[in-house]
Amino acid sequence: MTTSRDRAATGAIARFLSDDHERLDTLLRRAATQSGAIDETAYAAFRGGLLKHIGMEEKILLPAAQDARGGEPLAAAAKLRSDHGALVALMVPTPTPAIVAAIRTILSGHNALEEGPGGVYEVCEQLAGPDAEALLAKLRAAPDVPVHPHMGGAKIIEVTRRALIRAGYESLASTL
Ligand SMILES: [Fe+2]
Ligand SMILES: [Fe+2]
Repeated sequence: MTTSRDRAATGAIARFLSDDHERLDTLLRRAATQSGAIDETAYAAFRGGLLKHIGMEEKILLPAAQDARGGEPLAAAAKLRSDHGALVALMVPTPTPAIVAAIRTILSGHNALEEGPGGVYEVCEQLAGPDAEALLAKLRAAPDVPVHPHMGGAKIIEVTRRALIRAGYESLASTL
């Protein structure tokens, strides 16, 4: 969780991507209604937004940081990519309250690694140095990603469980 004081100290890239986290959190909260039914409009906006956000990090932000380090990836990059894999897998099945809960659990730890003082966003921004403005422009111009229809059924849940286990989320896998 980022406080307003932290925000004042962070740069434009960290702010842009942290604001996107907040927007996505709001959509996910809206998607999980009190009755347990999923609000499909909110969930569709969340899903498209999260896939785009992950694309911005994987295709623009992390490669820029790696380039700035002479080809050496950030120490946190492997964990971030592994979490992204789990999140992308969770976007495939027809959403249920258990799937929404699993997404929320992964995102809370994941976003904390990225946001805030000393987080991945701040490190990437510092590495960009004078190129930070151009990097932000690239992030802003990132394309929407194609979103495929959901898939239902036990087989898809099994595939999703295996993806969570691969990413180190064994206990979450058993909740699906
Ligand atoms: Fe991420
Ligand atoms: Fe992120």
